[in-house]
Amino acid sequence: MADLSVNICGVDFKNPVIPASGVFGYGREYEELFPLSALGGIATKGTTITKRNGNPAPRIAETPSGMLNSVGLQNPGIDKFISEELPNLMTKDTVILANIAGSTAEECVEIAKKLDETDVHMIELNISCPNVKQGGMAFGATCEGAASVTRQVRKATKKPLIVKLSPNVTSISDIAKSVEAEGADAVSLINTLLGMRIDINTRRPVLRNNMGGMSGPAVFPVAVRMVWQTANAVKIPVIGMGGIATGEDAVEMMMAGASAVQVGAAIFTDPFAPVKIIDGINQYLDSHNIASVKDIIGTVEPW
Ligand SMILES: Cc1cc2nc3c(=O)[nH]c(=O)nc-3n(C[C@H](O)[C@H](O)[C@H](O)COP(=O)(O)O)c2cc1C
Repeated sequence: MADLSVNICGVDFKNPVIPASGVFGYGREYEELFPLSALGGIATKGTTITKRNGNPAPRIAETPSGMLNSVGLQNPGIDKFISEELPNLMTKDTVILANIAGSTAEECVEIAKKLDETDVHMIELNISCPNVKQGGMAFGATCEGAASVTRQVRKATKKPLIVKLSPNVTSISDIAKSVEAEGADAVSLINTLLGMRIDINTRRPVLRNNMGGMSGPAVFPVAVRMVWQTANAVKIPVIGMGGIATGEDAVEMMMAGASAVQVGAAIFTDPFAPVKIIDGINQYLDSHNIASVKDIIGTVEPW
């Protein structure tokens, strides 16, 4: 068994596999299937300042090798998250990343201050949700906006701060550099790619929200490219996601420069995907006589 542990911003992960925000809720449904302590960490559903019911249905659609979603940050609000979900999660012997979003920087600051008073291990600031009118995309789409919200949230918390980036931009590595300069401890990418499908019989968009976020295996090459570009542009750790479905995908993403990976849509087709991905990484390392997963991070040799 190879050493699967990684350390990101001073936080020890027993392995580099983390269910992504929005596909794992708060883990309650999955802990009936496997112990959550098997996971490197858990990124919780995006939490906003007050409760959100999300967008009207239909808000999920299948696409070839992927899916569109327009869930719209349905969540109980930060106070309920802290009182009703976090205490249970903190008993699970895994790293908890609280994913947060706001429609203004002030809201993000307020949420971060509340989390700063808790035991949560890390904050993942989502500046990239494409599914709500002001879901952070307003900050995430420009270097100035991303820098400004990062600067303000940085002042509000001593917790390790991961900023989650949008792929719906011209240069994701420029955005990464601007949040690094304002004190982000790590970046995670990619959030979903903005997409749309139309029902040709009704001439209506398939999603009630018209547009939605595309994810799943179809986006994997885009995500690998963006992680590679970003890892080469910043010194802080990069957490890679987008289309990861197998151990081999995770190894590839780490070779592109990711220090850990998150798994999203794949969990909907196989709820055991994160556990299988951990096994798959271990099998790759053992069969290549690599002692530690840390030894593959960023090791791609570009032509
Ligand atoms: C149904 C659904 C809900 C999501 N909700 C959130 C969210 O609340 N916050 C967030 O930062 N990302 C959210 N995401 C984005 C994922 O965390 C991830 O960045 C994206 O899906 C790419 O990974 P994947 O291709 O493995 O799904 C959501 C994705 C899906 C499919």
